[in-house]
Amino acid sequence: MKKLVVLTGAGISAESGISTFRDAGGLWEQYPVEDVATPEGWYRNPALVTQFYNERRKQLLAVNPNYGHIALKELEEYFDVTIITQNVDNLHERAGSKRIVHLHGELMKVCSSKEPNNEHYIQTLSSNNLEVKIGDMAKDGSQLRPFIVWFGEAVPKIEEAVNYCEQADIFIIIGTSMNVYPAAGLIHYVPRNVPIFLIDPNQVLVPSTVKVIQKGASEGMKELKKLLIEEYV
Ligand code: APR
Repeated sequence: MKKLVVLTGAGISAESGISTFRDAGGLWEQYPVEDVATPEGWYRNPALVTQFYNERRKQLLAVNPNYGHIALKELEEYFDVTIITQNVDNLHERAGSKRIVHLHGELMKVCSSKEPNNEHYIQTLSSNNLEVKIGDMAKDGSQLRPFIVWFGEAVPKIEEAVNYCEQADIFIIIGTSMNVYPAAGLIHYVPRNVPIFLIDPNQVLVPSTVKVIQKGASEGMKELKKLLIEEYV
């Protein structure tokens, strides 16, 4: 089976009803990034940050995967699929995709605020217990914080993602503005002869060799799935 590696961003979840970050009306317009998505914001006001992510979890419970997510799951019948996602939602999981690398963390997980990446202190919240409160502690006695990679923090999963990109036979990018590094740099690890497709209704700055499908995730994936099966299986 050919190795299909997919880089997804907020745009793939837009049709499920989750706001993107940088489009008009996006999340970073409503909430200042530096307040809710940086370590400094957390130190200044952990209650505000905790509340912000509690709200994001509530919203996540209310939405469902769309055909963009589902088509990626369906492609596992024909390809060895790896999804590298910048999204912290669990819509790829809920669509049934098997191999998912979450570069920027996971909304449904919480961790130690002393050692965010220490596996021993990472907990998965359940759908009937998704509210974190100030005073809720990780097993090391520190305040629980969202298991999210904030701006200015290292991206521990990037090496694993680079390895997958280097092995790709086909590479797909869906719904990311390619503004945030190191994720946006992953395209440079894809071997030169490998076909690269991009699905986004808006223009994204990518090399001219990339085959662009200027459509939303669901419609774009419907078209691309057909093409991939016809031409690459
Ligand atoms: N289908 C596909 N793409 C869409 C759709 C849609 N229906 N609607 C919007 N988009 C595209 C936008 O055109 C844009 O290019 O999705 C992209 C969203 O870009 P951003 O909001 O910048 O989101 P993303 O690239 O995922 O952000 C990267 O930045 O804020 C941080 O950590 C956060 O993971 C996030 C990272």
